[in-house]
Order: sequence, then C-alpha cells, then structure tokens
Amino acid sequence: MTKVYRDEDADLELIRNRRVAIVGYGNQGRVQALNLRDSGVADIVIALPGNARRRPEAAADGFTVRPPAEAAREADLVMMLAPDEAQGAIYANDLAPNLPQGAAIGFSHGFAIRFGLIAPRPDLDIFLVAPKGPGTALRQLYTEGRGMIALFAVEHDASGKAEALALSYAAALGSGRAGILPTSFAEECEADLFNEQAVLWGAIPELIQAGFETLVEAGFSPEVAYFECLTEVKLIADLIYERGIAGMREAISTTARFGAMEGGPRIVTDETRAEMRRILAEVRDGRFTRNFIGQAEQGHPRMTAWSAKGATHPIEAVGEKLRKL
Ligand SMILES: NC(=O)c1ccc[n+]([C@@H]2O[C@H](COP(=O)([O-])OP(=O)(O)OC[C@H]3O[C@@H](n4cnc5c(N)ncnc54)[C@H](OP(=O)(O)O)[C@@H]3O)[C@@H](O)[C@H]2O)c1
Repeated sequence: MTKVYRDEDADLELIRNRRVAIVGYGNQGRVQALNLRDSGVADIVIALPGNARRRPEAAADGFTVRPPAEAAREADLVMMLAPDEAQGAIYANDLAPNLPQGAAIGFSHGFAIRFGLIAPRPDLDIFLVAPKGPGTALRQLYTEGRGMIALFAVEHDASGKAEALALSYAAALGSGRAGILPTSFAEECEADLFNEQAVLWGAIPELIQAGFETLVEAGFSPEVAYFECLTEVKLIADLIYERGIAGMREAISTTARFGAMEGGPRIVTDETRAEMRRILAEVRDGRFTRNFIGQAEQGHPRMTAWSAKGATHPIEAVGEKLRKL
C-alpha cells in the first residue's frame, strides 16, 4: 500500500519562507494562492501578462500582480498554473532567463514535463502537487477545515529538499488534512489524460447523450429522458463516492441491480476495452499531445466547432428548463 502523507509529515515553514510566484489566476491559480495565503505564506506574487483577463480579480483579492518575467526574477518558487499548452513558451521566455539559481518550479499537472515541452535548467527543483479535483472544491474544503487529496512527485531534486518542499506546498493547500500520495510526473499525467478521454469527461457525457437520444427517438418525453439519463448520474456518483461500486449496488433496488448486470456489459464490451487500450497507447506515445498542441497552435478550430454543436444539443434546452425547477 502506497504511503499516504499527512500534515504531520510536512513542514509548513518551508513554504512560508519562500517567495512564491503563481503563474496564472484561473481555476487553480486563484484558489491555490488563497489557500497558501490563509496557511501563512506571506510573500505571494501573481504572474500574469499585461493583457490577462484575470488581472483585476487578482488585484481585487489583494495580491500584487506582475508580468511573469519580472515575477520570476524575484521568486524562489514558481507555481506553474497557466494552461498546459502555454507552459513551454512561458518557461522558455519568462522563467528560464530570469529565475534565480537554485529556485524551484512546481506543477499541478505532469503534462509539460512528461511530454518535453519544458527541459528545465539543472539547478532547479522540479516538483508536482496535483490536487485531485477542481479549484472550487479545493477552496471549499479548505475553508471548511478539510482538505482535498493531492498527488505529489519530484522530477528533479537539485537542492536535496524538493520532496520536503512539495509536501510543504501540498500541506499549505490543505491536502495534508486529507492525504498526499506519491506518484511520478509520467504516472499522474498519463492516467489523467487517459481518464479524461476514456471515462470522465469523454465517455460519461457521451453515454448520457446517447441514452437521452435513444429514449426521445422512441417517443419518450425529453423531460423523463433527462431525469433518467442525466439527473440520476448525481445519485450514482454520490453513492459510488461514498460506498464504492459494490456498496452502491447494495443500495439500489433488485430490479436496478438485475438491469445493471444485464445491460452494463452489453454497452461496455471487449471492443470498448480495446478502444480504451488504444486511447492509452496514444497518450503514452505522444500522439494525443502532438494532436492537442497542433490544434492549440491553430486556435482549436475543431474543439470550438465541437463545443458549439454540443451547446445546441436538445438535452441542453430541456436541462435549462428543468434546472429552474
Ligand atoms: N482545472 C482544474 O481543476 C485543474 C485540476 C488539477 C490540475 N490542473 C492543472 O492546473 C494548471 C492550470 O489549469 P487551470 O484549469 O487553472 O487553467 P485556467 O483556468 O485556464 O487558468 C489559466 C490562467 O493562466 C493565465 N495565462 C494564460 N497564458 C499565460 C501566460 N502566457 N503567462 C501567464 N499566465 C497565463 C490565464 O490568463 P487569463 O487571466 O487571461 O485567462 C489564466 O489566468 C494546468 O496545468 C492544469 O492541468 C487544473
């Protein structure tokens, strides 16, 4: 069983004594900055370009905002919380030429290191602290006196203290109250990219839409189809989260359990598993990343069209009406 680190394994003073620059003030940047400050980290600068949308929000939250190159010059820890595809250019243009010798760079996703977007200077400590959930939940748990599970890893330990620094950072986010688990940049990144496609953001919404379409096409009312195929996803997610899959099955009716046994394996078949293996292979050999970066360089035309089409799916109009109830 993997060792789970907690507050008592971390020395908060390490991060409190650092001059921290947080690059980006989005989902993670804002919340990580707020949690750090509330954990007693006094010297925090938000690094954003002059045209960044979130500059006013960072300033309104009471943080000093500086351009990334300037912030890097005075930092001894930079937390990289810009979009993954932008991190290579930020490192090359702003951090590499300006970061003091012996500084550290932290990441919340292994992507830029795993796929070589960044080849860090040998004098830098490189660590990962990846909270396992969205920024909103990371902040809410922290303010409730609880914490979100986080993964941590060290890619390069120039100072001999990179692991202690990573644990200290994770504890300042509140994760030491819940658990900080070791991983590697590659493991965190590959598992995350796989899951995003094969289970969570890719497969589950697609399954919901397909179920909704099947019922509506057969003449069922869109409202009933919505409740059955979408609303109840919250119920099963909560049950699985609280009890595991076996425990969830104990909590549902015999009819539902029998239906699950009959229907589940007809939808997730050997072919589905083979496709999952292909998705994982494309993640690991870099094909997914090349595709992603290539699309990002063109301004994501395919993703823009796909999102626009999704927004007009009939399930959205029904959902808007029903959520008001
Ligand atoms: N979303 C999550 O819940 C989550 C969970 C775990 C890990 N992560 C990881 O956390 C990192 C940040 O993701 P996110 O979802 O927080 O991103 P996000 O919400 O898209 O925010 C990105 C921030 O970076 C800023 N930015 C863009 N280009 C920049 C540049 N050249 N220099 C400096 N700042 C720049 C953006 O500026 P604007 O103010 O102009 O938008 C924005 O403030 C990623 O590595 C991601 O994989 C995210």
